[in-house]
Amino acid sequence: MVKVAVLGASGYTGGELLRILALHPNVEVTLATSREFVGRPIHYVHFNLRGYYKDLRFSRLALDALLKEAEVVFSALPHGVGMHIVASALEAGLKVIDLSADFRLKDPAVYKRWYGMEHPYPDLLQKAVYGLPELHREELRGAQLIASPGCNATASILALAPLVKQKLIDLEKIVVDVKAGSSEGGSEPSRGSHHPEREGAIRPYEAEGHRHSAEASQELSALAGEEVKVSLVPHAVSSVRGALASAHAWLVGGAGREDVTKAFVDMYSREPFVRFIFMAPPGYPDPKYVVGSNYVDVGAAVESSLSRVTAFAALDNLMKGAAGQAVQAFNISMGFDERTALRLIPLKPG
Ligand SMILES: NC(=O)c1ccc[n+]([C@@H]2O[C@H](COP(=O)([O-])OP(=O)(O)OC[C@H]3O[C@@H](n4cnc5c(N)ncnc54)[C@H](OP(=O)(O)O)[C@@H]3O)[C@@H](O)[C@H]2O)c1
Repeated sequence: MVKVAVLGASGYTGGELLRILALHPNVEVTLATSREFVGRPIHYVHFNLRGYYKDLRFSRLALDALLKEAEVVFSALPHGVGMHIVASALEAGLKVIDLSADFRLKDPAVYKRWYGMEHPYPDLLQKAVYGLPELHREELRGAQLIASPGCNATASILALAPLVKQKLIDLEKIVVDVKAGSSEGGSEPSRGSHHPEREGAIRPYEAEGHRHSAEASQELSALAGEEVKVSLVPHAVSSVRGALASAHAWLVGGAGREDVTKAFVDMYSREPFVRFIFMAPPGYPDPKYVVGSNYVDVGAAVESSLSRVTAFAALDNLMKGAAGQAVQAFNISMGFDERTALRLIPLKPG
């Protein structure tokens, strides 16, 4: 059994990690941290986990306990909070899967531009493997530090990757529209996320530069071997879970529907968690039909007369957009079957 700690275990992604890991045959969760709920049982916060984790209580975040109790750390702390403890855990030889944005960007200058501070561990930016199995499966094997991708970035990258890889689109003119449910904002309420303000909303935010566009540009540029420019505009919608990326691009070199279909099939037909939906019926990807699972549904619409393609990706932001993908990457890094504890069928109705 691998001894696992979940940092930020009282939050939404922390709770989702506990939900998945409860059924992982190779994992024992030995530590779950929270400041507010120290000493409380897990189900005090996560009512859905009643009956699981009978011997585990929330404990304070402390390095000595972490080093004593765990071999692997899942950090589900807010951005910037866990950097030092992650660095110390790595130093002591632990494996870390970090769900925050702390180690996702490779270039310290790009990190500074988007996050407004010098990165205190630029060497770790180089060491970290971006935890998107569809692009980095080989690097994930044996990785010690995994930077789990952002949910909007995951949807944007997976929608566009086949088109970028085959160079079927203009790499300078890509616009991604993301619609995202309220759990993306985490469990800490804010004025904008309060139910009366959020219910019924279709609200653009960070429309002049969302941080996940930096991740998407980084990963798609590496895939293309040249710079890919991605403009990403998220919209808050009133569902709780789920994100849909609609990526608008222009076909080049006479590429058409068959090339687009072939690119998606070539890239994803053997992927365990990517489902390609192309022709209607059943229609286009919809987050409603992946909720509760680690699947991402992808698809594309081709408007031949305009040489235009819209690529779609729908996922559950707390699963393939966060905890599910983190466990998938962990499984690969440990040499387990990557589907372990993730063979979950989406809910219907979700
Ligand atoms: N929500 C998503 O869809 C999503 C998707 C991908 C990645 N992520 C990333 O995952 C991380 C967690 O997101 P979340 O949505 O789960 O947030 P959340 O619900 O707000 O949970 C944050 C957790 O961190 C703890 N925490 C907060 N401030 C802390 C501090 N200063 N020191 C120690 N512990 C602290 C909180 O518990 P206490 O307050 O009790 O300590 C809680 O357990 C973030 O970095 C986020 O960007 C989220």
